[in-house]
Amino acid sequence: MTEPRFRATQTDTPLIDVVVNNTTISVHKGQNLAAALLSTGIDAFHCSARLHEPRGPFCFMGSCFQCVATVDDRSNIRTCRTPVRAGMRVEIDAMAMKDRV
Ligand code: FES
Repeated sequence: MTEPRFRATQTDTPLIDVVVNNTTISVHKGQNLAAALLSTGIDAFHCSARLHEPRGPFCFMGSCFQCVATVDDRSNIRTCRTPVRAGMRVEIDAMAMKDRV
């Protein structure tokens, strides 16, 4: 994870735990998953198919599919359209996180 470039704007809700690549992080309830991950410093969620470059959220409205990750064993979930839930398990492509941890 890098130093967060984004901060959570919804900080008046309780913190809940989400597991990302077997590491538990605390995020504010009510956020979408993409925003929650960005606010913790995770900014690349998968790699592009052809060039294998790290990709992260772009449109935040469900159109670009740049924010996909595996959530609760379901692949290609658009994290910008997914609200965080306590105990949620998220798998980020390890290659996307390379040189970012
Ligand atoms: S950020 Fe574009 S689909 Fe999620």
